[in-house]
Amino acid sequence: MPRFSASVSALRSSAIRELMSLASRPDIISFAGGMPGNELFPVEAVEELLGGLDLKTKQAAFQYGPTPGLPSLLESLSGFLEQKGLPVQKNRLMITTGSQQGLSILAKAFVDPGDRVLTEYPCFIGAIAAFRSAGAEIRSIPVDNEGLDIAILQEEAARPDPAKFLYITPYFHNPAGILYSSERKQKLIETLQGRDIPLIEDDAYAGLWFHEEYRERLKPIKAIDPDGIDVCYMGSFSKILGPGLRLGWLLAPPAIYEKCELIKQSADACSPSFSQVIADAFIRSGRIGPYITSVRQEYRRRAACMTTALRNHLPEYVRWSEPRGGFYIWLTLPEGSDSTPILKLAIDGGAVFVTGNTFDPEGKRNNTMRLSYCNNTPEEIERGIPIIARAIRDVCG
Ligand SMILES: Cc1ncc(COP(=O)(O)O)c(C=O)c1O
Repeated sequence: MPRFSASVSALRSSAIRELMSLASRPDIISFAGGMPGNELFPVEAVEELLGGLDLKTKQAAFQYGPTPGLPSLLESLSGFLEQKGLPVQKNRLMITTGSQQGLSILAKAFVDPGDRVLTEYPCFIGAIAAFRSAGAEIRSIPVDNEGLDIAILQEEAARPDPAKFLYITPYFHNPAGILYSSERKQKLIETLQGRDIPLIEDDAYAGLWFHEEYRERLKPIKAIDPDGIDVCYMGSFSKILGPGLRLGWLLAPPAIYEKCELIKQSADACSPSFSQVIADAFIRSGRIGPYITSVRQEYRRRAACMTTALRNHLPEYVRWSEPRGGFYIWLTLPEGSDSTPILKLAIDGGAVFVTGNTFDPEGKRNNTMRLSYCNNTPEEIERGIPIIARAIRDVCG
């Protein structure tokens, strides 16, 4: 028997993953993935940009690059982030291999086995996995429609042995779909100030807002630049260009950045140069803004189609909120319900979603389910939602 490390031995394939393998039938309508629609990728624009590059740049695309990222991309991305008001000059910017790598790096930087970290409940599964594989004990703090529960955060912050960090996804949360209110962010800032609990702010869905009136809420905490908190801001090209590039970024205070760079060096030496050349050309060509606008409009259409279908088909006891951006709608069933038998019935009927316990660091709470609308045509949404609604009624009455 190979003698695996303790952290790897604790990793298990979930029953849900096995159930999901049944869902790979070609006829099944999937509301499960958090993947952009294939037909939305800017294939022609990228082809054109690649064709227009000079030989030196094309050669550099095949070459290793510096660990923090290709200088040209660091420069163009800095400009892009400065436009959002992020304090790029006071911090250090690093390109990561997807923002998922940013999570793994930060977990390595801060967590010794048994250390407590704070997340939201529910929480992005990739963050749970990254923190757990570093040996973290995860304390998850519930979110409501405005953000996380400040009273619980205050209790945690007042402990004599404070958690190693707090991880949040305030903008179009995965899976809860919520957008933090400005008031909740302000209270969060006040709670963390001077507490030596770094904040990891994950903004993977930045730019994918649906309504002008909420734009003020999108200002990152990193851009508010509060005194007395080390904010590590993470972003990604996955939803605004393509996840196949595997490119994200981390904007962190210099002392944290230095450790992260050393960790990245041993993880993969550098992120793919080819992808970095493409992302750089995409920003510099000025195409990124119009592209984000076009996908945002498409996701808004898909979200509207799903909310109409949910309104028409779901039983009244299912609670959910209208998405304000991003990819997801989070359904809450009556207390004590279990979404796993619902998933089984839905798969039999031809539609699939993700059960809520996937996003519970304790893997228990399961009266919830995540639906994504990002990768479905309106026709699929109109066919798939009644299947899910029927499965809910069959199980919950
Ligand atoms: C909240 C959140 N953070 C990070 C990621 C990771 O994205 P990537 O590694 O593709 O940049 C995702 C992907 O779905 C996500 O939903």
